[in-house]
Order: sequence, then C-alpha cells, then structure tokens
Amino acid sequence: MSGKGNHIFPVSDRLLQRSDKESLLNQKGLVVWMTGLSGSGKSTIAIGLEKRLHQDGILVKVLDGDNVRTGINNNLGFSESDRKENIRRIAEVSKLFVDCGIVCINCFVSPTKEIRQQAKDIIGGTDFYEVFINTPLEICEQRDVKGLYKKARAGEIADFTGISSPFEPPVIADIEIQTKGKPVEKSVEELYQFIIKKIKS
Ligand code: ADX
Repeated sequence: MSGKGNHIFPVSDRLLQRSDKESLLNQKGLVVWMTGLSGSGKSTIAIGLEKRLHQDGILVKVLDGDNVRTGINNNLGFSESDRKENIRRIAEVSKLFVDCGIVCINCFVSPTKEIRQQAKDIIGGTDFYEVFINTPLEICEQRDVKGLYKKARAGEIADFTGISSPFEPPVIADIEIQTKGKPVEKSVEELYQFIIKKIKS
C-alpha cells in the first residue's frame, strides 16, 4: 500500500523545518512590526527597506493595512474588536512567513499596547521587532496623503486614530524612528542598519 506508515506521525513532524528554509535562504525569518499613526510613513519606509534588503538577496514580504484590509480582512472595520481581529489574523499570517524563513515587514497602526502585545504573543517574542515610526500628529495631519484626517475632523470618519480614537505610543520599542525633518532614505537606512544584524545573526 502506498504511503504506508505516513499516518503514524503528524504532518508537522514530516515537513521540512524552519531551519531548513532558513539555511536555504541564508537568512533568519522575523517580523519587523511597524506601528505609528496613519500617514506617519510606515509603508513608505517599508517599501524602501524591502528594496534595500532585496538588493542584499534577502526574501521579504510587506503587509500593510491598505492591502490586507481589501483582501483577507475585508470584513473588518475600525472598532476596537475589529482592530484586534485584524491584528490577530495578520500576526498568524506573519508567523507562517517566518516559519518559511521570510522577513515580514508589517505596517499597521496597531494603536494600543494590548494589540501589539497580542501580535508579539502570537508571533513569539524572539521573532518580533517592534518599530515605532514616530511622526507627530500635526505632521501626519498636514500631509494628509489620503485626505482622511480632513474627513475625520469633519466627523465623517468615526474612530479615527489620533483624532477620535487613541494611539498609545510604545514605551520601549526595539527601535524608534523619528521622521520629522528627515529624508525617507535616512529613516530607511537607520532601520536597515538595525535589522540586517538580526537577519544575518
Ligand atoms: S489598525 O488600527 O487595525 O492597525 P490598519 O493599519 O489596519 O489599522 O489600517 C489603517 C489604515 O486604514 C490607515 O492608514 C488609513 O488609511 C485607513 N483608515 C480608515 N479608517 C481609519 C480609522 N478609523 N482609523 C485609522 N485608520 C483608518
């Protein structure tokens, strides 16, 4: 009978391990968790970081609020419980990438300590690096790339982070990037220098 005996061990014991994937890719899988206000520059910095790491031969996946919320999380809004579910699913997905040895850069407002802790607990503390993209609210609001702050101020968007819903800055992030008055390339470089050591450790 073909496949005889395969059922004795669980599938997870028969699969190649994370270490096999990491050896193949010559990198360590981890999550770069970027938190910050809408318009703080998370996705822009992530795009720059992805390019920089890609040039080094590192396999990277970027997840961000705008793409995830049109796909896997398209049934979720911005209530506290929906944000929690948003982050829970993203953390579970990131864990799958990490198990494949991939560097996952996540750009999510993830506004509360509790929500970020939830992500860290799912992913595992040793694979999780919290990055605070620290851009003052006034600047995010001045930029208002998507016109959402204007709408939020006009009362057209409920529970908007920083306006009508809280943002709790991390107390001790693994790294904080202050973007005010700084070119994007400089922020990307700061983050690159920090993370490359973890990926190649
Ligand atoms: S999170 O709070 O659940 O982590 P997420 O990062 O997925 O948020 O999505 C944030 C993005 O959704 C923002 O950058 C913005 O473009 C958009 N958005 C729409 N409504 C809101 C809102 N009420 N609060 C924050 N962001 C919103």
